[in-house]
Amino acid sequence: MTSIVERSVGRPLGRVEGPAKVTGEARYAAEFPVEDVTYAWVVQSPVARGTLRSVVVDPTTEDDDMLAVLWHGNAPEIAAAADPELAVLQSERISYRGQVVALVVARTLEAARRAAQVMQLDIDVEPHDAQLAVDHPDLYTPETVNPDFPAVSERGDFNTAFNSAPVTIDVRYATPALHNNPMEPHATIALWEGDDLILYDSTQHSSGVAATMGPIFGLTPDRVHVIAEHVGGGFGSKGSARPNAVLAAMAAKVVGRPVKLVLPRSALFSMVGYRTPTLQRLRLGAEPDGRLTAIGHESVEQTSRIYEYAEQTTVVTRHMYAAANRFTSHRLVRLDVPTPRWMRAPGEAPGMVGLECAMDELAEKLGMDPIELRVRNEPDAEPESGKPFSSRHYVECLREGARRFGWEGREQRPRLRREGDWWIGTGVAGATYPAMVQPSVARVRTLTDGSAEVAIAAADIGTGARTILTQIAADELDLPVDRVRVLLGDSTLPRASVAGGSSGSASWGWAVTGACRELRRTGGSEVTFDSTELVKKQETDGKHAYGAHFAEVRVDAVTGEVRVTRLLGVYAAGRILNPRTARSQFIGGMTMGLGMALHEEGVMDPATGDWVNHDLAEYHIPVHADVESVEAHWLDEQDDDLNPMGSKGVGEIGIVGSPAAIVNAIWHATGIRVRDLPVRLDKILPHL
Ligand code: MOS
Repeated sequence: MTSIVERSVGRPLGRVEGPAKVTGEARYAAEFPVEDVTYAWVVQSPVARGTLRSVVVDPTTEDDDMLAVLWHGNAPEIAAAADPELAVLQSERISYRGQVVALVVARTLEAARRAAQVMQLDIDVEPHDAQLAVDHPDLYTPETVNPDFPAVSERGDFNTAFNSAPVTIDVRYATPALHNNPMEPHATIALWEGDDLILYDSTQHSSGVAATMGPIFGLTPDRVHVIAEHVGGGFGSKGSARPNAVLAAMAAKVVGRPVKLVLPRSALFSMVGYRTPTLQRLRLGAEPDGRLTAIGHESVEQTSRIYEYAEQTTVVTRHMYAAANRFTSHRLVRLDVPTPRWMRAPGEAPGMVGLECAMDELAEKLGMDPIELRVRNEPDAEPESGKPFSSRHYVECLREGARRFGWEGREQRPRLRREGDWWIGTGVAGATYPAMVQPSVARVRTLTDGSAEVAIAAADIGTGARTILTQIAADELDLPVDRVRVLLGDSTLPRASVAGGSSGSASWGWAVTGACRELRRTGGSEVTFDSTELVKKQETDGKHAYGAHFAEVRVDAVTGEVRVTRLLGVYAAGRILNPRTARSQFIGGMTMGLGMALHEEGVMDPATGDWVNHDLAEYHIPVHADVESVEAHWLDEQDDDLNPMGSKGVGEIGIVGSPAAIVNAIWHATGIRVRDLPVRLDKILPHL
């Protein structure tokens, strides 16, 4: 049977919700019109450690607009959740600066904000420790790192092999704290209808928020209705219920009216997670021909007093390059600091800074082209698990990138190219991200007019998920895309996995494909399909997307200013479902990588335990003028072992390796190795 409808998957369909977004019709969490709504504002701890004795409300704010001041002395008791950050206003203990210690609810936003800002807190302050150090006496090895990898891995005899290797590199790289700053801040409107809780919440996972929030308030998850129709970015910081959801729900219960809580930008720096700083040590041992005999990658990181989050920084090294003798480890210290969490490509993003810069240093020492060094160490199976790769086209990405970028003929020695006041250089680094898939459920039904409705509690956080699911369903049902309507962003729809781990399209697409195929097979008008059993049967080892990043930089010989003239990525990420939305993910990740290389850093003041640059005025991110040419390309990669679409994720791989390519290019331009990100001009200038 030949189809009369052109296949949609693989075509650059524009976002189906695009018109709603540009006309302002699309509603984000805080924008839903809710009658009788009241406003909440958070009060955050001004100290890093201590005990809150009491709160004193300024009498001048005690007007008719005030509805409630909640703190642990009067807040309703809620049940403990797996995430201790959600136990808001339950204890007098202060574990970090910026922790929420009180909430003001008022009839107007202005009244709530003013009362919060002039509230006095009576705190017994204790000495704190907010300084990560590689020799911190309280360092320990966690049992596992995010999400559940062993903290340490060893193969062969690393020490012996490293100590006897003819060529070695032993370097330390540091990456700073980085902060999720989605355009839409974390926000919740909460209202109670009888005993049912309704939350308009900015989240990457409405099913997960319902499952978490229910038990906190003594409800089954089906009594919690989470609506997240449009989400303005998350990057991991909205991957699970955040304190704003609990605070809004609690306040709505107390005041008996709907409560809207939008976190101010400054609160995002401490209340919703951030990427931990990392202190990494890389030891590489090689033969003179470049073959690695020993790879060692260690990382020291921080977490908070109340929750152990261990970034999986060195896990990426376990599958990147061949070498018989290997050692990776993670050590943590609990400090009086906010809890770090997921931020775009947790683990891979900081880990590949260390590994890919160290590889560049090894290439320099060997006098070998850095691409050839990588090619020489291509493994034929996953080096630590021994499992085959379902598909791996890393070398092809390096070669195709080299061709497109114009790598051939590059002089290996640094500091040779100068144009006027600019030193010019180029650099390369690898990229990788796991191809994950998670169980989800989808419902498909045909309507009387012959069109189809797809329902799944997925989240479109700006990635194009709604569009891609429309394309997948259209092809499976042999319908034009305008005859398919996708409902998502609502926890009352069939349960879906998180929009995280670059797994959304693969996971939800699998459930949608299953439902559509079942519908056609049975000839019915409605089918619900659960992918859990199929997903569980899948081999998870050996499944990764790969890529290669190339950068050209110019460094001002007088001021040390770095400009990135060109950034180019080539990816092998399975089948690309929609080239337009995929390209947007790739170049977005690369731009974030540019920020990681040159601009972004959370500056912790050890004296106060505060992120001193907790706003977008002082936490620098790339702006348009910083982004000159960013190009993303991909190889057609066929891999039938992944999911029915043959897709790998594209959301996170762009930030993996792109910072290292820039740092390596800065060395090539200037001869200066900066091993401490971001590469600010004050780190270059003394050596120019
Ligand atoms: Mo991403 S950090 O898995 O949302």
